[in-house]
Amino acid sequence: MIVAVTGQKGGVGKSTTAICLAVAAMQQGKRVLLVDADPQGTTRTWGDVAAEQGAPAPTIVAMGATMHRSGQLAALAREFDVTIVDCPPRHGDVQRSALMVADVALLPCGPSAADAWALAGTLDVIAEARALRDDLRACVVITRKLGRTALAKQARKVLESSGLPVLQTELAQRVAYQEAIAEGRGVTSHSPRDAASFEITSLLSELERFAHGEEASLDLPSAAEAG
Ligand SMILES: Nc1ncnc2c1ncn2[C@@H]1O[C@H](COP(=O)(O)OP(=O)(O)OP(=O)(O)O)[C@@H](O)[C@H]1O
Ligand SMILES: [Mg+2]
Repeated sequence: MIVAVTGQKGGVGKSTTAICLAVAAMQQGKRVLLVDADPQGTTRTWGDVAAEQGAPAPTIVAMGATMHRSGQLAALAREFDVTIVDCPPRHGDVQRSALMVADVALLPCGPSAADAWALAGTLDVIAEARALRDDLRACVVITRKLGRTALAKQARKVLESSGLPVLQTELAQRVAYQEAIAEGRGVTSHSPRDAASFEITSLLSELERFAHGEEASLDLPSAAEAG
């Protein structure tokens, strides 16, 4: 399974989510490749911290706008059970390249309606990629959700009207995510009993089901119905 964690907007939690998913999959005994496709190098820096801390980390490689070419990512990913690509914000060429090889595009989105509106630019990139390959699956995950506010419900409504499935799992705004990343870990290895850890485990299994063609959730409209 190749998952591209992507989106035009900056700071929505792409890298945090990508790293935590990679660590969780690794802890399940899977061979995991984490691709840093962002010139900011968040994932590579995290890998350096992990090495300094002696924390287990997946294989990390840097790739850019040529990762879709033959002999590149698809060839490398064959050696792994799970490949997660941490895409940069903006940099359409890199996102497009990742979407040419990914099985699933995972779009983290903040919890407000404004965050959901900002996803429009990303939807164009997805639509463009799908015009070239209709087997690309794409879904949204709500991130940085604040407490039990009504905001996430609102955001979910706006997002569903975009026509993309919104995963049932929602990631809350939690210090555990920030602490884990700062220490070169994922939430499931840093604070296994924190709610964040359950969120990531749930997201990973929901993604795996989604990648295999099962609906994101049974009680939400499918992309076709909503679109
Ligand atoms: N679920 C969360 N709870 C708390 N903080 C979070 C969460 N997800 C991300 N953050 C914080 O939000 C900030 C941005 O997160 P991150 O770097 O993962 O976003 P990004 O989408 O990869 O950003 P960029 O577009 O710059 O690559 C970081 O400070 C990170 O610690
Ligand atoms: Mg990032």
